[in-house]
Amino acid sequence: MFTLLQDPALYRYENEAPRSLPWLEERFRRLETRRSADGSEQWLNWVVRLRGSSLIGFVQATLRKDRTAAIAYVFGSPHWGHGYASEAVSAMLDELVAYYGAAGFAAVLKRDNLRSVRLLDRLGFAASADSAGLHNLLPDEMLMRRPATPVSLAKPTPLAEVAPAAGVMPHEAPDPDPR
Ligand SMILES: CC(C)(COP(=O)(O)OP(=O)(O)OC[C@H]1O[C@@H](n2cnc3c(N)ncnc32)[C@H](O)[C@@H]1OP(=O)(O)O)[C@@H](O)C(=O)NCCC(=O)NCCS
Repeated sequence: MFTLLQDPALYRYENEAPRSLPWLEERFRRLETRRSADGSEQWLNWVVRLRGSSLIGFVQATLRKDRTAAIAYVFGSPHWGHGYASEAVSAMLDELVAYYGAAGFAAVLKRDNLRSVRLLDRLGFAASADSAGLHNLLPDEMLMRRPATPVSLAKPTPLAEVAPAAGVMPHEAPDPDPR
């Protein structure tokens, strides 16, 4: 993951590359607790790899007590434009409904991040003014939401595989995996 996350293209709109391998290891250890310090949020993270191949990205969700899952996703730029991110995020949304009881999804993103807007649009998200429970939006950010109805891609690409894994970025989990 450290190598994948060094890709400068990932930080065109926000965030920055892990500053060192020990820093990333410590971050993953914290995420592996799967819960926020106050226990109010469940932190869920999955790495994504092509079948029989290397890591291509990660998807993540912060599941709040109101059952809203705030989602995020990062994929290495060589793997953009194939629908892998859409497929993996779609699989995560299904997982969040089936096994974690998610009732709705939210994503906060930079307005200029058109790839991300298109991905969410493709998966049925719509711009929303309801930022209840989420951090105050910055002027250059937007919020997109979607109810937790079943999702499926029009043309699934059966090339990517979402593997349950330990953490990647900032999100949490109160209870052990209920499955
Ligand atoms: C946001 C991000 C994940 C989008 O990646 P992506 O590859 O563009 O997303 P998708 O998986 O939806 O792929 C869509 C593209 O694949 C193409 N595609 C090919 N086969 C496809 C399929 N079966 N299904 C869907 N799309 C397919 C689409 O036509 C589209 O192409 P386009 O880019 O030319 O329009 C990626 O840009 C990224 O990681 N950015 C850095 C991190 C970031 O900004 N994260 C968001 C903040 S939370």
